[in-house]
Amino acid sequence: MTMEEQLKELKLKLEKELSEIKESAELENLRVAYLGKKGSVTELLKGLKDLTNDERKVFGQQVNILKNEASKKIDEYKEILFRKAMDAQIEAASEIDMSVPKMLKRGSYHPITLVQRECEEIFKSMGFNVEDYSEIVNEYECFESLNIPKHHPARDMQDTYYLENGQLLKTQTSAAQNAIYRKYKDALINEGKPIKAIFPGRCFRNEATDACHENTFFQMEGVMVDKNINISNLIFFMKTMLSEVFKRDIKVRLRPGFFPFVEPGFELDINCLICGGSGCPSCKHSGWLELCPCGMIHPEVLKAGGIDPEEYTGFAFGLGLTRLAMMRFGVKDIRDLNSGNLKALDQFTD
Ligand code: DAH
Repeated sequence: MTMEEQLKELKLKLEKELSEIKESAELENLRVAYLGKKGSVTELLKGLKDLTNDERKVFGQQVNILKNEASKKIDEYKEILFRKAMDAQIEAASEIDMSVPKMLKRGSYHPITLVQRECEEIFKSMGFNVEDYSEIVNEYECFESLNIPKHHPARDMQDTYYLENGQLLKTQTSAAQNAIYRKYKDALINEGKPIKAIFPGRCFRNEATDACHENTFFQMEGVMVDKNINISNLIFFMKTMLSEVFKRDIKVRLRPGFFPFVEPGFELDINCLICGGSGCPSCKHSGWLELCPCGMIHPEVLKAGGIDPEEYTGFAFGLGLTRLAMMRFGVKDIRDLNSGNLKALDQFTD
């Protein structure tokens, strides 16, 4: 077959094959078959070396024209296939009936919000007010009013983010205690109304993160102040609340704990609900989870809030809401909760 005949045949073959193509993957195969390193057009170009100078001039030009035409046609076809695919997608999408609720994925509350709201309801039913407080506080609120003077070693554990004006991101919900005492003290002193308040909030600390530590987490602080409040009141409220949250009688243990704003202070632990007490990374292999430090409010803290500690006593607790949510929903890694990872958070969609 002469070179001329070969050219003609190749051109016809290419046109026929192009017209039969339906998918872009097939198109790529065709591009390789004609224009690839070992493609038919490339082979023709290679064959030019066996021709005479004159022949090479004529056919060389023609093969190059064929090469450019083939490349252009393949590109055009690619565009056509792309448009066809887009049209098909648009057509399919227009078949979605937006008025059918099942087709839309519904959002859900964050697991911490769910647990927080549940706790709020339980405490409200026991006569507590729910208070909100800012995330940026001053050092007096976060430390001094809580019997943690400057340079007290207890501040070391609560390193946080400071603003240039000296304010800081609160390290503990206890930072709102002083404001709560001041808000309710007149009703306590003049009308004999006990102070019963909870204040959930986000806290921030400089933290080396792992499965059970995060730099941003939620606590729920609670205080009760009245005449003759004692430790058994504290234990009663904590047990009632936790049993309601977990919908069963859960095991708790009290250990002595030091916090400058309570005296005596306790660590209230619950049996790890992820491993059942046998030990796992979530409970640092101890079988117990520190959930709620608490204690009797220190006289200095009451005084700072304008309340006479000779006349009134009270208890305070700092419930780890993030940890509670982990226990409640079996979340193994605390970092999933802040990650924005919908795979982790989606599970709470109802
Ligand atoms: N604010 C403490 C912390 O974040 C927790 C705490 C301990 C709160 C004892 C309390 C309390 O109200 O009585 O480490």
